[in-house]
Amino acid sequence: MNTLKLQTLEDAILGFLENYEQIVDSGEFAAQHGFSHDEIMSVIQSLIGSEFVVAQPISRIERWQLTAEGKTYASNGSPEFQLYSAIPSEGISCAELKTKLGDLVFKIGWQQAIKNKWLEMGKAQVSRKVDHVEDNVKAMLLKIDDGEALDQQDLDALKRRKLISPIKWNGYLFNKGPKYARERKKPATDLTRENLSGGTWKSLEFKEYNYSAKGAPVEGGHLHPLLKVKQQFQMIFRQMGFEEMPTNNYVESSFWNFDALFQPQQHPARDSHDTFFLREPCKTRTLPEDYVERVRHIHESGGYGSRGYGYDWKREEANKNLLRTHTTAVSSRMLYALAKKHFEAKKYYSINRVFRNEAVDRTHLAEFHQVEGLICDRGLGLGDLKGVLGDFFSRLGMSKLRFKPAYNPYTEPSMEIFGYHEGLKKWVEVGNSGMFRPEMLLPMGLPDDVSVIAWGLSLERPTMILYGINNIRDLFGHKVDLQLIKSNGICRIGL
Ligand code: PHE
Repeated sequence: MNTLKLQTLEDAILGFLENYEQIVDSGEFAAQHGFSHDEIMSVIQSLIGSEFVVAQPISRIERWQLTAEGKTYASNGSPEFQLYSAIPSEGISCAELKTKLGDLVFKIGWQQAIKNKWLEMGKAQVSRKVDHVEDNVKAMLLKIDDGEALDQQDLDALKRRKLISPIKWNGYLFNKGPKYARERKKPATDLTRENLSGGTWKSLEFKEYNYSAKGAPVEGGHLHPLLKVKQQFQMIFRQMGFEEMPTNNYVESSFWNFDALFQPQQHPARDSHDTFFLREPCKTRTLPEDYVERVRHIHESGGYGSRGYGYDWKREEANKNLLRTHTTAVSSRMLYALAKKHFEAKKYYSINRVFRNEAVDRTHLAEFHQVEGLICDRGLGLGDLKGVLGDFFSRLGMSKLRFKPAYNPYTEPSMEIFGYHEGLKKWVEVGNSGMFRPEMLLPMGLPDDVSVIAWGLSLERPTMILYGINNIRDLFGHKVDLQLIKSNGICRIGL
């Protein structure tokens, strides 16, 4: 309602009250003056607030409506009529009648039909006592539905059976209030410079502060659930002494994403069905040439005790740009950088976006976030990997882990990680892990007693479990309800 309209209504009410000392009925007032009653109500409420009027709420039954039960009888007939109609002329047993009608219709129909004296009980049979009955209840219900009036007795009968309920009209009986005046001046809400310099502040009426008004909720500045869970993972990694790897490049060359990881060029994951290749720029500009040669060699003919894959490795394939399919591409860059310096043990982590050309469904999108951790040091073994995974996942609240042998081209051994989820009371797959192969590490130039243990998982999966979201499209992408982001709870996992 606009302010002008409010002003007109207010003026009409105050003008009417000026020379009228009786009590006014808001419904009659609205009808007589051609105003909508809802609008009149809100103006009266505001006038009550400033004591220009006093009022007493009143309510009347405006009309009747059918309850859910009433509606079914209006279309199917009353239960007593249904019951009567279901009795064949030769009679029927109660049990049979009951299965015909269902328990509820039978029960209600029976009571009413007995009351109406429609039934006759034989030894084992029930039969009709009268030849013909009318379904008055249905007729009355249809009348109510059409807005027709019924006499009080009929209304009472339907009310008693809870087949109708009243629609109430709410209004006010009102009268002049203690602070009534012909006009309500709008109180000032601010003390201005002009008020002070011109002296008008002395006569101004100020609006009182409403200390019990509810504050307006803040609309902006909400973190997405993925960011909240990401922060928790970051905290856990940092508590464990890990440094973050720079993962701010979504575009990567096939070389760092695949070849450096000893992933052969015919590997199905390198197919465009699984990987997004870039059209522009389609090739990487520079690669470390001597290292590229060592990678070519290990793929083609092996080395360091490995037989390699024995195929014709192609540089053009390694040059192709793509959207990285895993953050392990960054891990390979970081390990190569480490190998170039005097070796130092390191713990690295990253949490960032990766892309896979997959069919989108309830649990898959063409992109997701990968959480990755790795430790490189001299003499690490599988026991160290299991130990660090135990530490990591127990900080996430999962202290029971199980491992299943798996395969990755760049790790040996490789293990899928399953964790017992105390909330869901079942084992869930929580990640993938392994020890990077010598075929990956030695061509980089890392000392041969250095091993690297690593693991990866998605950020989406734990987030969906934590926030009870079962369709990934409700979590990420253009279909996400902004309300989810505004109202989701804080995230605390682990310690
Ligand atoms: N890169 C793996 C994946 O995409 C995760 C992984 C990381 C596995 C490190 C082993 C070691 O699923």
